[in-house]
Amino acid sequence: MTNLLQNYGTRIPITFTHAEDVYLYDASGKKYLDFTSGIGVMNLGYSFEAGKSAVKTQIDAISHLSNLYENPLQEDVASFLNFSGAYKGFFANSGTEANEAALKLARLIKPDTDILAFVDGFHGRTFGSMSATMQDKIQAGFAPLVPNFTKAIYNDVASLKAAVTVKTGAIIFEIVQGEGGVMPITADFAQALKEFQKQGILLIIDEVQTGIGRTGKLFAFEHFGFEPDIFTSAKGLGNGLPVGAMFVKNEWADFFSAGKHGSTFGGNPLAMASAKAVLTELSQLEFLKDVRDKAEFFKQILSDKLAKKTSVKAIRNLGLMVGIQLSDESQLGQVLSEAREKGLLVLSAGHDVVRLLPPLVMTKAQLEAGVVILEEVL
Ligand SMILES: Cc1ncc(COP(=O)(O)O)c(C=O)c1O
Repeated sequence: MTNLLQNYGTRIPITFTHAEDVYLYDASGKKYLDFTSGIGVMNLGYSFEAGKSAVKTQIDAISHLSNLYENPLQEDVASFLNFSGAYKGFFANSGTEANEAALKLARLIKPDTDILAFVDGFHGRTFGSMSATMQDKIQAGFAPLVPNFTKAIYNDVASLKAAVTVKTGAIIFEIVQGEGGVMPITADFAQALKEFQKQGILLIIDEVQTGIGRTGKLFAFEHFGFEPDIFTSAKGLGNGLPVGAMFVKNEWADFFSAGKHGSTFGGNPLAMASAKAVLTELSQLEFLKDVRDKAEFFKQILSDKLAKKTSVKAIRNLGLMVGIQLSDESQLGQVLSEAREKGLLVLSAGHDVVRLLPPLVMTKAQLEAGVVILEEVL
């Protein structure tokens, strides 16, 4: 008997009671190494003391402030995300809300145009974000969706060129399609997108999963030299506190004039206190370099130990965002559950990919311990 809707299907029958560092513990005391970060959220692990103490201090000071009043913490957080003042930001509570704000803003900037999105992309579950999520399993049953969304195939320049018309006002995409199977963008596709931006089409980059250091840069678009018109963030930004953000180039900022958008909880002091601590940590001199170094190590041991296995078709990554594509998709569920039995938590992506999103603070020894389990399971 449950009091909950079954929209998440049957949940994995484990009740975690506490967490420490990069480990979760269940009610029986069993320890699990976390290669999921709670789906890309706990980038700084479960013992990020600066974040915890900032939230504890903030809850004693003021836990909520309406957006009718000044909120210096929002200014502080935005100052880490604004690329030296080139962007202005809005805070929401989740990834889908950040994207919703981006889509609304794009409509204001380019009225009456189409927004192009890519097959197997994922942008969220609210109506606008879902309408941009070109996956049948996500959209089925919800018609009519928001009109004027068009689609093309990701990493296929010919498909992109065929799909863009004079009515295309914006293109929304991920630098690595996460839910869609950990598919990093190719250099020629990135180049083609930049050409369309030069022609006046807005680029909206969804960094909800790829952002906040996940790929070894603060945002993954930095690897490819993009200057997005709009980018969004969420997940790792709060390291466990719900927060989303949408940033737009200064030249478009005035389109969100007074009354055009808002949120009761967006940018609330608790989420902002946590986000400020997260971004302070990431801005430490060696932090992102260290992530890139660990990602290189991780890629190498994954390749050494797994690439030759017949059960493995391909291994893809950008930084510490990794996908192991299986030769036989019917094995996916079993791989996840066997890893779990051996004390390793991993995710799926698409229909045939084991997705790894370890906390960025994981040590090389911890990464290697997880790969040893994967070697046994795969
Ligand atoms: C790329 C991307 N965009 C948007 C979302 C939606 O974020 P949220 O679940 O916080 O609404 C996700 C969630 O997985 C995501 O990976």
